[in-house]
Amino acid sequence: MKLICNTSQVVTLAGSPQRGSALGTLGLIPQGGVLFEGERILRVGPAGSLLEEFPQAERIDAGGMAVIPGLVDPHTHLVWAGERVSEFEMRLQGKSYMEIMAAGGGILATLQATRSASLDELVEQSLQRANTAFRYGTTTLEAKTGYGLDLESEFKQLEALLRVDMLSPVEIVPTYLGAHAIPPEFAGDAPGYTRFLVETALPETRRWWLAHAAERPLPFVDVFCEKGVFSLEQTRTILLAARELGFPLKLHADEFENLGGARLAAELSAASADHLVRTSEADIQALANSSSVAVALPGTPFGLGQHEFTPAKAIIAAGGLLALATDLNPGTSWNESMQFIQALACRYLELTPAQALAASTINAAAALRLEQRLGSIEAGKQADLLILSVPDYRMLSYRFGTNLVSTVFKKGVMYRTA
Ligand code: NIG
Ligand code: FE
Repeated sequence: MKLICNTSQVVTLAGSPQRGSALGTLGLIPQGGVLFEGERILRVGPAGSLLEEFPQAERIDAGGMAVIPGLVDPHTHLVWAGERVSEFEMRLQGKSYMEIMAAGGGILATLQATRSASLDELVEQSLQRANTAFRYGTTTLEAKTGYGLDLESEFKQLEALLRVDMLSPVEIVPTYLGAHAIPPEFAGDAPGYTRFLVETALPETRRWWLAHAAERPLPFVDVFCEKGVFSLEQTRTILLAARELGFPLKLHADEFENLGGARLAAELSAASADHLVRTSEADIQALANSSSVAVALPGTPFGLGQHEFTPAKAIIAAGGLLALATDLNPGTSWNESMQFIQALACRYLELTPAQALAASTINAAAALRLEQRLGSIEAGKQADLLILSVPDYRMLSYRFGTNLVSTVFKKGVMYRTA
C-alpha cells in the first residue's frame, strides 16, 4: 500500500462526467492524501486522517504540491511518419489547409511518408511523441490510423499503435480512421472509396483485430466528415456499417464547414463528435441532448493561425458534455501537451481553469467511454495521477509552454518527469 501525502491539494474530479453548468466541479481536498495498492486507488481524503489510519503504508511525499488525475487526451493522430514544415510555411504565405490538401499535400503527403515507412520506423517516431505526452501528464491517449488508407498500411498503423501501447507507459486507445481522406487509388471517387470501406476495409479490419488483439475491445471507427472529403451521407453509410460490425463510433465534424456531422454523431450515439468549430446552434443542442461528448481541439485553429474556435460556452449552456484534446497531428496541431490545450481553452474557449481541467480528465475519459475506470481520483479507479511542480492546479492554465508535471503515476507505477 502506498500513500501520497504532504500535498497542497488533491483535485479529485470525483463523480460523474460533468454536463453543462456542472463542468468544473473539482472535488478539491486541501492537504489531501491518496492511498493506492497496485493499480487501484483505495481511499482518498485528508492526508492527516489517512496517515493515522494507515501508518504502515509506504509514504510518497508530494513536496507540498498539487495532485490531479492523469490527463486524458481523447483525440490524436499519433501514428505518422515524417513532417510537413514546408506546408506550414505555405500557409503562412496565405494558402489554406484545404487548398493544400486539394493539391495533393496535407494528409496525402503524410500518407506517402507513412506508407513508405517500415513498421519499426513508424513505432520509433510515434513512441517519441507518446513518451513526450506522458512526460506532460497524459496517462491515456486515443490514437487514430488514417495515414495508410489501404488495407496493409492501415494494419501497419494499428500494429504500431499496439506496439506503442506496449513500449510506452501511456495507455493507447485505438481508433480506425480509414475514412480520413480519399486515397490516390480512388482519386475523385469518394463513392467508390466509401463502398470499399463498407464492403472490404471495415470487415477486414474487424477480422485483423480479432486475429491480433482479440483480448481488447474493438477500436473506435471515425470519419472525417468535411466538404471535399466525406459528405454527410457517405459518413452516415460508413458509420452505420461500422456500428453493424460492433465498432464504437467517433466523428470529425464541422472543422471547416458545417455539414451536419454533430447532429449525426448524436443520432448514432457516437462516443464523441470532435472539432465543432462551425457547428450550428441547432446541432449544438442536438449534441447536448445526446450521450455523445463534444470534443474541442483548440490546438487546431491555433496551429492553423485561425481565429474561430469551438463555441464551448454555447455547448455548456446547452447542457452538453465538453472535453478537450490535442488533435496531435503533423498538419494542423503538432502538440503533445494537454497542459497547453488547457491554457488555450481558457483564453479562446473562455473556460475557467477548473472547467479546462475537468474537460481534460473526467470528461475526456467519457469521450473514450472509460469514465468508470479513468479520469478522476476515487476509490476503485485506476491509480493514474500526477504530482505537479506547483501547489495550485490553476497554474496549469495560467502558465504555458513549460511542463508543470513532476511525477506521473500510471497504473500505480511512479515515473519522475522532471
Ligand atoms: O483533425 N481533420 C482531419 N485530420 C486532422 C489533420 C490531419 C493532417 O493534416 O494530417 C485534424 O485536423
Ligand atoms: Fe483530428
